[in-house]
Order: sequence, then C-alpha cells, then structure tokens
Amino acid sequence: MNRDPEVMAFFPSALTTTASDNLAQRCHLDIAKRGWGLWALELATSGEFIGFTGFNIPGKNLPFSPCIEIAWRLARPYWRQGYATEAAQAALEFGFNALGFSEVVAFTAQNNFRSRAVMLRLNMQPSDQNFLHPDIDPQHPLAEHVLFNLTRERWHATHSDA
Ligand SMILES: CC(C)(COP(=O)(O)OP(=O)(O)OC[C@H]1O[C@@H](n2cnc3c(N)ncnc32)[C@H](O)[C@@H]1OP(=O)(O)O)[C@@H](O)C(=O)NCCC(=O)NCCS
Repeated sequence: MNRDPEVMAFFPSALTTTASDNLAQRCHLDIAKRGWGLWALELATSGEFIGFTGFNIPGKNLPFSPCIEIAWRLARPYWRQGYATEAAQAALEFGFNALGFSEVVAFTAQNNFRSRAVMLRLNMQPSDQNFLHPDIDPQHPLAEHVLFNLTRERWHATHSDA
C-alpha cells in the first residue's frame, strides 16, 4: 500500500519498505502507549489487511496544533466501497465516546478530492482558509492544504444514538 504511487499521490513521496515498516512500528507503539492511534483495518469477512484509519497527533509546527487528527489510507483495491468512511465512523464513535475527545481535525492536499469527500461524508466542517503545509516547499503543488474539523457536539447532533 505505502509504495503504490497512486495511493501516495498526495504525499511528497511513496514509502520504501523500511519506511513503511517503521511507520507500522510507530503505530503499534502509539497504540500500546496511549490506547489509540492509527489502527490497521481488516475485512470482517476474510481478515485481509486493507489499510488504516484512526487518530494521530500531527507536528507542532502546524498552524492549528496542538490537535488530534483523524486520518485514513486504503490499499487501491479497496477504494470506492465505503470502507474508509465506515472505519472513520467507528473511530470517531470511539474517540468522542470512549476517549473523551472534544474535537478532531482532518487535513489534506487541496486537490485530494477523494479524501475531502470522506471528510464531507463524516459531516466534518470545512475551514474557510487553506494553509500551506509547513513541511512542504510552498511552491510544490501539494503544499496547499484544506482543513476540516468536527466537534463532539456536532458529532452527537447527528449521532444521537451513538
Ligand atoms: C482517501 C481514501 C481513503 C478514500 O477512499 P474511498 O474508497 O474513496 O472512500 P470511502 O471508503 O468513503 O468510499 C466511498 C465510495 O464508495 C462507494 N460505495 C460503494 N459501496 C458502498 C457502500 N456499501 N457504502 C458506502 N459507500 C459505498 C461510494 O459511493 C463512494 O463512491 P464514489 O467514490 O464513486 O463517490 C482513498 O482514496 C485513499 O486511501 N487514498 C490514498 C491515501 C490518502 O490520500 N489518504 C488521505 C490523506 S489525508
């Protein structure tokens, strides 16, 4: 998944196997330490790995840090089946109800419309101002990012049963 150029099209580069393994290791450590993080996703029917979704604390250099980010990445064969939104709904329910989060954000490159569509499906609210990602050259086509947020109140307003 992490070395597929299509999956990684909105990141500065695809990952080597070593970088991908290091990321997986960091995910394991975060979950062991805090009880939450970026969780591996498996198909309920077969148990096969399809990607990840969950929460992350992004860099302190972002203009809206400190914050908790929700993120998603699926291997290409599993796109367009509703899995990212389903997994994010489950993560948000856990984040707001069990972990007591008051707000989560999501951000992505301005032209990552597939990820933006997940944010909209989750009823996240777009900010009216884009930002330049501080780790990307401002001239790079991926530098401009959109920011969305979701408060616990907004989540509960549409999930009164959750
Ligand atoms: C961003 C990403 C996770 C979105 O995946 P996705 O499959 O488009 O999103 P969802 O899982 O919500 O699926 C929605 C699609 O499934 C369709 N779908 C099919 N069956 C469905 C079902 N039973 N229930 C819900 N949706 C269903 C929807 O109609 C929608 O299709 P559309 O794309 O034609 O509108 C994926 O493109 C990805 O991994 N991209 C690379 C990594 C990345 O950029 N991550 C974000 C960085 S911030």
